[in-house]
Amino acid sequence: MPQLSSTLGHHGAHEAAPDPARPNTPALVDRFGRVATDLRISLTDRCNLRCMYCMPAEGMKWMQAAQLLSDDELLRLITIAVTRLGVRELRFTGGEPLLRRGLEDIVAASARLVPRPSISLTTNGIGLERRAIALAGAGLDRLNVSLDTLHRDRFTSITRRDRLSDVLAGLEAAGAAGLSPIKINSVLVRGINSDEAVALLRFALGKGYQLRFIEQMPLDAQRAWDRNEMVTAEEIVSSLRTAFALEPDTRDRGASPAESWLVDGGPGRVGVIGTVTRPFCIGCDRTRLTGDGQIRSCLFATTETDLRALLRCGADDDTIVRAWQDTMWAKAAGHGINDPGFFQSRRPMSAIGG
Ligand code: 5AD
Ligand code: SF4
Repeated sequence: MPQLSSTLGHHGAHEAAPDPARPNTPALVDRFGRVATDLRISLTDRCNLRCMYCMPAEGMKWMQAAQLLSDDELLRLITIAVTRLGVRELRFTGGEPLLRRGLEDIVAASARLVPRPSISLTTNGIGLERRAIALAGAGLDRLNVSLDTLHRDRFTSITRRDRLSDVLAGLEAAGAAGLSPIKINSVLVRGINSDEAVALLRFALGKGYQLRFIEQMPLDAQRAWDRNEMVTAEEIVSSLRTAFALEPDTRDRGASPAESWLVDGGPGRVGVIGTVTRPFCIGCDRTRLTGDGQIRSCLFATTETDLRALLRCGADDDTIVRAWQDTMWAKAAGHGINDPGFFQSRRPMSAIGG
């Protein structure tokens, strides 16, 4: 028998009889009326930075090559998601997805699917300078670049690498390659860059980047997250208000976890993702695939479904479709970070994908 249960505990939803309450639809529906159409794919758990809210300085244990999905395995799952399960948007993440060899080919193959999914990349920007044109040519539509500070010394403190200039060069190259919109994700860390919200927004507005602040989440590999240290969405908004007039942006929020604000009457905007203090799970449209072929219904899920085992024991597409549908049907209502019994996932963000 192939090993179908994951390392995070027995899931096995696909072995059970189908739930008669699940509507007869191919789409990735759950019990709370949500439909997952956005697939986040972690291409590698490795990274060339060591952001303090993500990884320890040393001693990360990486996935082995044999654990990772091959390009063919990955493309088979992406094809099933897009052609059978109604996924319309693919987002490649990591770790750092630019470290995955053949990323351009994976993007190009994804862009040939019918219906053509929208394709985006969440990256730290290192190496983008050399690859932005090839990625745009392969069919990449959009880009999220992580950038927490504009000061070299702070960048080095947060990421433990002196690479700010590479990130800035990557951003410039992405713009020149026509990738649009370019979004910037910023995490504020108390005592390091927590005074930098205004400067980051000025920078982003000046360059035409869409800035989003993300509350620090309990997803670090070293489990050092401390709620009391977190810079909250409320604090971020009040600090922006010292320099800008912010009005709620009334455009339909859709499935976006970011609350959007119009800056000084617009058209500039800023987003704030208050995952912890202002959860938006009810609007979630995501399903996640880890680099080693596990489906997760949520960043904070405590179970996974091992599609790699199914692939490697010769399962047909229908079996994979059912396993994926069952996993999403079992999706919890919310992440539960604020519940007393919250259990931080054994997998860090770098192994799940942001
Ligand atoms: N909390 C909030 N955001 C995080 N990121 C990585 N780890 C965390 C965390 N613990 C961010 C990165 C990147 C995005 C994918 O997630 O900065 O922008
Ligand atoms: Fe790398 Fe992103 Fe984690 Fe920073 S947050 S260490 S860039 S994976």
